[in-house]
Amino acid sequence: MKFARICFLLHVLSTTGVLVNTFDPITTTVVVGIGATLGRTIYNYLHESCDAKWIAFNVTGLKVDLDRKLYGQHIASRIILKAVNGFMNNGNPKKPLVLSLHGWTGTGKNFISKLIAENIYKEGMESGFVHFFTSTLHFPHSSQLVNYKSQLQQWIKGNVTNCERSMFIFDEMDKMHPGLIDCIKPYLDYYDKLDGVSYRKAIFIFLSNAGADSIAKTTLDFWKAGENRDDIELKDLETALSLSVFNNIQSGFYRTSLIDKNLVDFFVPLLPLEYKHVVQCAMTEMVARGLEPNWPVAEELAKDLLYFPKSEKIFAVTGCKTIESRLDYYI
Ligand SMILES: Nc1ncnc2c1ncn2[C@@H]1O[C@H](COP(=O)(O)OP(=O)(O)OP(=O)(O)O)[C@@H](O)[C@H]1O
Ligand SMILES: [Mg+2]
Repeated sequence: MKFARICFLLHVLSTTGVLVNTFDPITTTVVVGIGATLGRTIYNYLHESCDAKWIAFNVTGLKVDLDRKLYGQHIASRIILKAVNGFMNNGNPKKPLVLSLHGWTGTGKNFISKLIAENIYKEGMESGFVHFFTSTLHFPHSSQLVNYKSQLQQWIKGNVTNCERSMFIFDEMDKMHPGLIDCIKPYLDYYDKLDGVSYRKAIFIFLSNAGADSIAKTTLDFWKAGENRDDIELKDLETALSLSVFNNIQSGFYRTSLIDKNLVDFFVPLLPLEYKHVVQCAMTEMVARGLEPNWPVAEELAKDLLYFPKSEKIFAVTGCKTIESRLDYYI
């Protein structure tokens, strides 16, 4: 059985050339990365299987993780829990779950995908059933669009054939070529089966910075009006988000039929993080390193970060993203 899966994997890799052709072959780093990815994938295929032993949704785990580990994102937290729980409890979904996460840098988009993966797959992000694409890394050359399209389609098909509960995360979705976005559209739609394969139990997560400005503007308006950040609701952000994401000619989402056909089930806005959240991230990072959490150190680190807008200095320019690397200078 396992041998068959390895053969299948090698077959997919060799026939589609996904891991070979979609990556820029020039840099050694990427070559090493491919080796590591391939090694890890084969390792996972050796011992991980597409069954309840390895794939089981833990709703309590996800709730606890979102409540305790994700800071300042009450809207995203709520939507994610509801969306993933509803989908995973539906034995016969009509389409795959499609989430689109939008927000400023370092606010938790990749982090949320990781939390979702960890509460579905025993192996979390290391699972052989979780697939991660970054548009600038995996699809860098627009001249290669035709190749990328067929490779990506075969990759998705091959993996869902292998395990219907597969998860695909597309990072930097706003930098992805609209043609490439369009080519994954059939998999997101309400089809019973496509070429004999059902995609209805798969999960697609799109991450992007598209709409971050408008989310930040709304959050700032609340702050200026003296209102509580926690009182911001999805409806307060929806209009601005849709205008800036879908009408922005720079955005990869621009006029793709992904939007026209309502294939995205949930648009999830991530709010820009404030000083207090950055302090929390620094405290968490100390604990993660096995250190005694030290509030003054966390505050010192947070104070040294840049904040915007220039006049009010409310939101951390890099969110919690640089905390991990910066902490070294403060401990
Ligand atoms: N809201 C948050 N709550 C707790 N930790 C966070 C949050 N946002 C970010 N972090 C921490 O910062 C790290 C970097 O965040 P992440 O990679 O999720 O940012 P991102 O939103 O994907 O940013 P980018 O748009 O730059 O890709 C995470 O691994 C996590 O440790
Ligand atoms: Mg990210």
